[in-house]
Amino acid sequence: MRPFVRYYDAIYSDKDYRSDCSILRGLVPAPSRPKLLEIGSGTGNQTALLREWADVTAVETDKDFAAMLREKLPAQFLFERDIGALDQTGFDGAAAYFHVINYIHEASALTHLFAQTAQRLKPGAPFLFDMWHAECVLYEPPRATTRSKDYDNHVGKGRVIQSITPTLDAAQRNVTLHYAIEIDGQGFVETIALHLWQRDEIVSALQHAGFTDVAFFDGRAYPQAATKQSWALWVTARKKE
Ligand SMILES: C[S@@+](CC[C@H](N)C(=O)[O-])C[C@H]1O[C@@H](n2cnc3c(N)ncnc32)[C@H](O)[C@@H]1O
Repeated sequence: MRPFVRYYDAIYSDKDYRSDCSILRGLVPAPSRPKLLEIGSGTGNQTALLREWADVTAVETDKDFAAMLREKLPAQFLFERDIGALDQTGFDGAAAYFHVINYIHEASALTHLFAQTAQRLKPGAPFLFDMWHAECVLYEPPRATTRSKDYDNHVGKGRVIQSITPTLDAAQRNVTLHYAIEIDGQGFVETIALHLWQRDEIVSALQHAGFTDVAFFDGRAYPQAATKQSWALWVTARKKE
């Protein structure tokens, strides 16, 4: 297992996962225990919280992340292949949390993910995801940062020093995040390649896939509408009736 995944929950111990989940809770119409589809579950931090009030099927294609999720949660609801191979439908809602959508680089792959999600949702069911806001990020590119934070959770107790050096290819709208992590006396690196999708591309791909009512919100102040200064976005849509 890559050390980045082994220590992911230490690195992101300060992320507000409960707030992510409460946004979906507010969008899903109210069967007492809805059936949810989560795409890109990572180590399962939102999954565990969603499972407090819903039955969740989690899709995760990275073997290391899937293995970590299995260490933490019962595995029967985890699907480790492309969503197109998932033999389940009738979901009351779907979510892809923490810029999963930016991991997708090709328009055809984006439409595939959206269409396969739409096909598995009930008519009218919501789809929620967050992403970097291309128009804003290109205007104000990400800067190198170093952060130090203490963690005390299932990973253990200690301090993480996290440096992220981003490189931007503005022409291709790609951002590469070079992580250098020091934790527990060891150092390791991880590289994450992201693509910046523009709002009109997202609207078009969602509509093409069978969604309607696409809306953009500020990534840090949901449900405030997105502005040109919104560096990250929440996106909501509904499966067409
Ligand atoms: C930044 S992580 C977020 C994990 C988790 N949602 C969180 O907030 O901690 C993005 C995850 O999406 C997964 N992912 C990216 N594209 C995917 C796809 N097409 N299908 C399923 N998982 C995908 C990656 O493997 C990675 O685990």
